[in-house]
Amino acid sequence: MEAALFDKLAKMVADVPGDVAEVGVHKGDSAEYLTTLFPTRQLHLYDTFTGLPGQLKLSIDHNRGGAFACSRHLVEERLSGTNAICRPGIFPEQAINEPLCFVHCDVDYYYSTLAVLCWGWQCLSPGGVIVCDDYGFSTCLGAGLAVKHWLPEGAELHLAVKRCWVRKEPTGDSNSTGGGPNPP
Ligand SMILES: C[S@@+](CC[C@H](N)C(=O)[O-])C[C@H]1O[C@@H](n2cnc3c(N)ncnc32)[C@H](O)[C@@H]1O
Repeated sequence: MEAALFDKLAKMVADVPGDVAEVGVHKGDSAEYLTTLFPTRQLHLYDTFTGLPGQLKLSIDHNRGGAFACSRHLVEERLSGTNAICRPGIFPEQAINEPLCFVHCDVDYYYSTLAVLCWGWQCLSPGGVIVCDDYGFSTCLGAGLAVKHWLPEGAELHLAVKRCWVRKEPTGDSNSTGGGPNPP
């Protein structure tokens, strides 16, 4: 997570309606920062809490299944007193369709990233933003490829250090789901 980028994007979505979602929580480092940036918004935290789902791993995905395991209860304890709510499971099986203003995608794998981007874009209010943390990481080539396969026509991909973000046009077509699955 890059605090300066998150600060800038949080200001950008200040007037955009909706909740905040993070998919890929691990111990809650970036989630904790999101609670400080969005203290009055509901924050949905999606993770297996048993680490990367190995059954979704492709050959271009580097990290092993089970990496980044962390107890959901430790995250809940760390974020107690905030508006964060943990939603355990292999995403997107537990995904709920709420209007969102900000989505943080940090899931490493191709299929996980593609699922988050397609879902997040659909839920995003006009003017909202999706940040993908793994773009450009040599250990997360699958995530980078998923961004390229998903990027909706006409949407601008903004590059930052080892991550990227996309804003839904304030007057854009909210029914577009992006490029959709196109496995390598
Ligand atoms: C790199 S870690 C997240 C790091 C975290 N954002 C931080 O700031 O420390 C990646 C996380 O994605 C989760 N993950 C990957 N694919 C997933 C999926 N399909 N469903 C749920 N969680 C997933 C893993 O369990 C892991 O905790």
